[in-house]
Amino acid sequence: MRPHRPVLVFAALAGVGPFAVVAAALQAPVTFTRDVAPIVFTSCAACHRPDGSAPFSLLTYVHAKAHADRIVEVTAARTMPAVEAGARTW
Ligand code: HEC
Repeated sequence: MRPHRPVLVFAALAGVGPFAVVAAALQAPVTFTRDVAPIVFTSCAACHRPDGSAPFSLLTYVHAKAHADRIVEVTAARTMPAVEAGARTW
């Protein structure tokens, strides 16, 4: 289950239909602070922060939401988190 949960959480953030339904089945509504931020801070923030190596920050709800659709795609395709610079992978 663990490898799929981050994708599910990001999909719910993006409001992707089938994933949103599955997220609803988990009963508690997904929140940025409780569900998304810990993943972003652990796996993305090393690069996706102001003045980081990535082209945009993901540290806030507003920034993550703005990129939610692409986040769903890159996490599902496992092209992010990038593996260079010692980034961890799922
Ligand atoms: C080791 C550094 C690093 C880490 C860690 C990292 N990224 Fe990135 N990310 C980049 C860089 C550099 C780019 C711009 C170049 C590219 O698109 O590959 C990027 C681009 C992106 C893009 C835009 C891709 C596109 O083609 O539109 C998204 C979305 C993204 N990252 C999401 C994430 C998410 C979500 C995580 C954590 C789960 C993450 N990244 C972790 C470095 C990183």
